[in-house]
Amino acid sequence: MALFSAAENKSFPAGTPLDSSKNGSLLFSPITTKSVTAHNRIVVAPMGMCSANNGYMNDFHLAHLGSLALKGAGTIIMEATAVEPRGRVTPHDVGLWEDGQIAPIQKVAAFIKAQGAVPGLQLNHGGRKGSKGSPFSTTGMRLLHEHEGGWSHDAVSSSDLPMDDRHAKPRALTVDDMLFVKQKWVDAARRADKAGIELLQIHSAHGYLLHSFLSGNVNNRTDQYGGSLENRLRYPLEVIKAVRDVWPAEKSIWVRLSSTDHKNDGTFSKDDNGWDIYQSIEYAKKLKKLGVDVIDCSSGGCLPNIKYPVGPLWQVPFSEIIKREAGIATSAVGLITKGAEAESILQENKADFVCVGRQFLRDSGFALTAARELGVSVKWPNQFERARH
Ligand SMILES: Cc1cc2nc3c(=O)[nH]c(=O)nc-3n(C[C@H](O)[C@H](O)[C@H](O)COP(=O)(O)O)c2cc1C
Repeated sequence: MALFSAAENKSFPAGTPLDSSKNGSLLFSPITTKSVTAHNRIVVAPMGMCSANNGYMNDFHLAHLGSLALKGAGTIIMEATAVEPRGRVTPHDVGLWEDGQIAPIQKVAAFIKAQGAVPGLQLNHGGRKGSKGSPFSTTGMRLLHEHEGGWSHDAVSSSDLPMDDRHAKPRALTVDDMLFVKQKWVDAARRADKAGIELLQIHSAHGYLLHSFLSGNVNNRTDQYGGSLENRLRYPLEVIKAVRDVWPAEKSIWVRLSSTDHKNDGTFSKDDNGWDIYQSIEYAKKLKKLGVDVIDCSSGGCLPNIKYPVGPLWQVPFSEIIKREAGIATSAVGLITKGAEAESILQENKADFVCVGRQFLRDSGFALTAARELGVSVKWPNQFERARH
């Protein structure tokens, strides 16, 4: 006989305020997108762990992501998950290119949901940045050749421009190839739904395949998918529309974008023929029309040798401006490490969600830590309750 089920916390998950009448916190207030409700606004950022076997999640992912759900994160977005094998960044990325990969993700998603958190997942195609070693493998992060399990001969992008001489020389996708890859996104989205994922994030940031179409710094096509902004947006919008068409209407759909390539100095500097915040706003407006719920506002990753103006909350201005100008919900991300910072971003209407990455790796109980810092009394996991005070 089971003593208790993993679903024991479900009706009152960790991270929910114990006395909501006294709680002025937005961070610790529920938020609903379509019919998906997160019990607080803290989101675990997608973080590739380079620990899958042939794209299959395993016990590592259950333990790692499970602990974050147990300790009160409202939403957990599982790491960049490749829509086809050559869409991985490293050989150890998670994938959803075959049906067998559904079950291990389903197990993690069910555990996350049983703790009362929203199970999310990011779909990705690594494009010209693929075929790299993982940081802690024997090869390190260098380009992998075929005999090492890489696919450098088969890296694809909007154009044939490599990121630099340490990355693969990609092949520009033909229009037929693009249809093929679009179908891979659609098939992977269907599998994510079957796995119980309730929030799907499309990765169109960080220099990966969709970003390589958006940015004129990479995309040098001369057909209807290159040149003008309208043309550069075309393929990512086609992919996202196709995914949206198969993604259940009641489930949430997010897009992560790089708000700018940071080619020129200055957060809001213009890069008309490349990629900047002004083009991101136009993209976000179109995504809103497609039915995308939330824009996750990251930046960079497309060009080599960029000096990023990194510091606490450094990407929040992107979220603020996209939220205001495109009239769409946003998630802010990037060096948000304190409860008070997260709370003020929401109070100042600069985002609807706060997405936290590395701080969750330092402190898997960041949601509980943030609550303590803000003086909000929140539920702890039943099993840990005796350690709360
Ligand atoms: C180990 C690690 C893996 C990451 N993997 C992904 C990923 O799979 N997809 C993605 O969009 N961003 C990825 N990122 C970026 C994070 O999602 C996040 O945007 C970034 O770390 C900035 O947030 P932070 O300062 O809170 O860590 C990764 C970051 C780290 C540290």
